[in-house]
Amino acid sequence: MSATPETGPSPVTVATLRSMKASGSRIVMVTAYDAPSARLAEEAGVDVILVGDSLGMTVLGFDSTLPVTMDDMVRHTAAVVRGASRALVVADMPFLSFQVSPEDALRNAGRLLAEGGAAVVKVEGGRPVAPTVARLVTAGIPVVGHVGLTPQSVNALGGYRLQAKGADTAIALRDDCLALQDAGACAIVLELVPGEVAALVSRSLDVPTIGIGAGPGCDGQVQVFHDILGLGVRTPRHATRFAEVGEAVRAGIAAYADAVREGAFPGEANYHHADPAVVDALSGSRDGGE
Ligand code: KIV
Repeated sequence: MSATPETGPSPVTVATLRSMKASGSRIVMVTAYDAPSARLAEEAGVDVILVGDSLGMTVLGFDSTLPVTMDDMVRHTAAVVRGASRALVVADMPFLSFQVSPEDALRNAGRLLAEGGAAVVKVEGGRPVAPTVARLVTAGIPVVGHVGLTPQSVNALGGYRLQAKGADTAIALRDDCLALQDAGACAIVLELVPGEVAALVSRSLDVPTIGIGAGPGCDGQVQVFHDILGLGVRTPRHATRFAEVGEAVRAGIAAYADAVREGAFPGEANYHHADPAVVDALSGSRDGGE
């Protein structure tokens, strides 16, 4: 990425992703759902921030992504955009925001850009959503595709399990990716597919692939913020905990609680003193000024 000492690194765009694939520079994507986490991700140097509908599980406490609404996505996308100035912000289109019709998808994707400030939207699905992807791209909305395990279809898939295991499903995955690329997708997320399949599919595409649980042969990687920082209840196999932030938060709050209970907090530095005249007046005017 180009940089000058005065301006810092230049903002990441969809063109940057294409040139990163061409030059073999691996793309780093992580999810974020609010302004402080977006700021930290950007300070850590990530290229792309995904406001994933994993929001439903990581932040909102649901057990799937299905209950996440457009209003949730717009609200959290806008927060992430306020925290990030250089990274490319991609916003997920939640369940039923793009499946009903291409026109409905266009209206909803437009909200993520106009109200949320995202630069790109992401949709789950292969060939069946290609006409919708083409409609969005024609309207000037960059789209990231998402195939393999598509969490919005968890009920149809029968669980969060490895996809494209057999020759026929691996070929179908590649055909889905080619259809998304032809429709104008600027990148494609490959989730939970065998590493060899992901690597071969990546090589057959001009657009970058971003893997999650898809091995090292993708053009980039995406991970969920909470999974890699030890903030989730459990860590999926496809993630590594690179920090134990949950432990640090728990210890910090416990220390605060102890300090309150022991009377050690607040200390002198944590509050203001009144003018002595105010103290006198207040002490002498107990019970309403007697
Ligand atoms: O919602 C999300 O976080 C995602 C990633 C897992 C790719 O779609």
